[in-house]
Amino acid sequence: MRILVAGGTGVIGSRVVPLLAAAGHDVTATSRSAARLLPAEAAGARGVVMDARDAVSVDAAFDQAQPDAVVHLLTDLATEDFAGNAHLRIVGSRNLVDAAKRVNVSRMVAESIAWVGEPDAVPGDETVAIARDPDSGDSLFPAVETLEREVLSLDDGVVLRMGLLYGPGTWYGRHGTLLRRAESGTVEASVRRTSFVHADDAARAVVMALDWPHGIVNIVDDDPADVAEWGPALVWAAGGAPIRITARAQGRSSSNAKASSLGWVPQHPTWRDGPFDLL
Ligand SMILES: NC(=O)c1ccc[n+]([C@@H]2O[C@H](COP(=O)([O-])OP(=O)(O)OC[C@H]3O[C@@H](n4cnc5c(N)ncnc54)[C@H](OP(=O)(O)O)[C@@H]3O)[C@@H](O)[C@H]2O)c1
Repeated sequence: MRILVAGGTGVIGSRVVPLLAAAGHDVTATSRSAARLLPAEAAGARGVVMDARDAVSVDAAFDQAQPDAVVHLLTDLATEDFAGNAHLRIVGSRNLVDAAKRVNVSRMVAESIAWVGEPDAVPGDETVAIARDPDSGDSLFPAVETLEREVLSLDDGVVLRMGLLYGPGTWYGRHGTLLRRAESGTVEASVRRTSFVHADDAARAVVMALDWPHGIVNIVDDDPADVAEWGPALVWAAGGAPIRITARAQGRSSSNAKASSLGWVPQHPTWRDGPFDLL
């Protein structure tokens, strides 16, 4: 297939591009920066500079890639700009879906997040409703709702609700932002009940999902946990001592039964094995 990977340089995209190229696909990877595309090009992909907030730029990327399928891995979190990230989820998703419809591409696999369900103690499946904002002024949940609605408006749209990413290159990786905070004993989780997924497993799911039917699939490991448990484990792994472990909302962890039924089995079934890849 000819596949356009929007966000081919991020924590998941940089893993997905080599997997797709090695599988023999014709891959076009995008970034806002030509320099950041060099690893994707070295892996065999064509690099295209695109700003997803600009519909003209997105259309031009589609014209160059002539895709049969699109992988949407756009987030804007490298500088922890959460408002910018919400804006990108809304505007970038709309621009990608509009461009796909313009050229009759119906297949899109997109990255969403797993911790958006209404709070409950039992892990949720893919039917859980997206919660209202845990605190006022947070644009995260409506932006996720828009992303999912846009992608599912395509006949072959697949939304992957990813757990909290850990592993090399993530915020919980060796030089990651949240790991550095944990070194001084602080963990401030978005939600108390958490499902993790290793970034390598997340990337494998994206590749597999190109063959999955329309719908939502949770991509999480087998071992949901409360921040009261994983928070101190993260702090110890970072070499600190727990001082302040908090969560903004109760939240809900997720079940991976549907992903399992589709053949996805995490190679890192629990964050406990070599916590956060730091051992
Ligand atoms: N589920 C989760 O827990 C989750 C999910 C995502 C990210 N994160 C965390 O966030 C951190 C940063 O994530 P990341 O490495 O994926 O980087 P990121 O800065 O969030 O970018 C992801 C991708 O989106 C692209 N992008 C961003 N804004 C764009 C725009 N306006 N137009 C076109 N492309 C755009 C980036 O390309 P360029 O920057 O090259 O232009 C990159 O390829 C990670 O350490 C990770 O732990 C967590």
